[in-house]
Amino acid sequence: MGLYAIGDLHLHFGSVCKARAQLKDRAWKNHEEKFRKNCEKLLTAEDTLILAGDHSWGRNMEECTPDFAYIEALPGRKILARGNHDMFWDAARTEKLNAQFAGRLFFLQNNYAAYGDVAVVGTKGFTFEGPFYLNGRGQIVGWDEKEEEHAKKLVERELDRLRLSFEAARADGYRRFVMILHYPPTNILETESGFTRMAKEYGAEQVVYGHCHGSTRFFDSLQGEKDGICYSLVSGDYLGWKPVKLMD
Ligand SMILES: [Fe+2]
Ligand SMILES: [Fe+2]
Repeated sequence: MGLYAIGDLHLHFGSVCKARAQLKDRAWKNHEEKFRKNCEKLLTAEDTLILAGDHSWGRNMEECTPDFAYIEALPGRKILARGNHDMFWDAARTEKLNAQFAGRLFFLQNNYAAYGDVAVVGTKGFTFEGPFYLNGRGQIVGWDEKEEEHAKKLVERELDRLRLSFEAARADGYRRFVMILHYPPTNILETESGFTRMAKEYGAEQVVYGHCHGSTRFFDSLQGEKDGICYSLVSGDYLGWKPVKLMD
């Protein structure tokens, strides 16, 4: 039995892929097929697979239907977090989605999923991604402060949602946590954030996130151990479409 994670499948069986980079990059060639084969080799029905957001390019449930069918057909139990591209998933819709896909897919938002004595908690998160202003040597010399103000509000809302998730698990007696974000826990200017502080506050053992694509973005945020917490980027192209095992 194992707990595995990967993110950013960006499926488009029933929709149009809108990222030119995804269409051109070799890392994405036949990625659905590579990922399915890796899952079938690695996972059994006893395992749990966390998908850290950006599941589908579909703009609505209808366009996402074949992507859900693909995910459902993968071995093991599936826990889905929200990504910024998941247009089918308004936060207020989570309960409806969980009712509709009961026993097939679990949607993580203001709730948690149990894995033995560990609670899988999470939210989409948010990080300020610029625009940053660079000098001739590529060093950051400033950024859009208005955008930064807006980002701070989104971060606060996501922190509230993350706290609801932790508290729901804690109220049911859970003391061990794996925390899922879609956005990285820190932006390229930060060494800590509200998300890393909350992970510390609740004693999360691991923080898993996606969203970062392409080799120039893979090291935008924390990786490895910091303050006793293990941080992992799990975007599919970073992992070569092979889910990473978080724990037995
Ligand atoms: Fe994303
Ligand atoms: Fe993504």
